[in-house]
Amino acid sequence: MMNPSMPKNPQDPRKVNPNFPIYNGKNACKLYKDLTDQVIIITGSSNGIGKSTARLLTFMGPTIVFACRDRAKTLAVIEEIQQETKNKNLVFMRLDLSDLRFVREFAKDFNSRYQKLNILINNAGISMDERRLSKDSYEMVFATNYLGHFYLTNLLLEALKRSHQAEW
Ligand SMILES: NC(=O)c1ccc[n+]([C@@H]2O[C@H](COP(=O)([O-])OP(=O)(O)OC[C@H]3O[C@@H](n4cnc5c(N)ncnc54)[C@H](OP(=O)(O)O)[C@@H]3O)[C@@H](O)[C@H]2O)c1
Repeated sequence: MMNPSMPKNPQDPRKVNPNFPIYNGKNACKLYKDLTDQVIIITGSSNGIGKSTARLLTFMGPTIVFACRDRAKTLAVIEEIQQETKNKNLVFMRLDLSDLRFVREFAKDFNSRYQKLNILINNAGISMDERRLSKDSYEMVFATNYLGHFYLTNLLLEALKRSHQAEW
């Protein structure tokens, strides 16, 4: 069955932009969609999977909000991606998912700056060997990976609904 979240008419990304990175093997990204004018948030895009996701999507032209906790580290990542992709619409906005106060502040700031949110990628996550509590006294992994994202999604739901188009 066709995955409804996939573009209906995927294009070969290399035909659109010859610099689009294609990795060899079964994990190759073979889809391209013009995302110009779209706004995307990616949590934890300063590293790992989030960073790779941001890099690929940046080639498709959207505004990407890097929702991360470390400003200096994230600005370096943005600089690196910008040099490669020439997309100037990459923005850092501070978000610490383990603290619900920061989640609330992030959402308030985002909602005041942007009228829409086309895609929200709840990627950030941690794992821990020891039990620690967050500022709000929840277990830290649960607070960061689940509660923070759940609260964030709720606070951004109106922006997501406003932007939802039946195009994917
Ligand atoms: N890699 C795997 O094999 C694998 C497998 C299953 C699931 N996952 C999940 O996939 C996601 C990404 O994994 P990854 O391997 O790319 O991890 P990663 O390289 O460790 O990157 C995690 C990202 O999350 C951010 N982050 C951590 N705590 C945060 C907080 N409190 N607030 C905001 N951002 C926070 C980190 O920010 P900093 O740069 O500031 O640390 C980093 O950008 C995670 O949710 C992970 O659980 C990964």
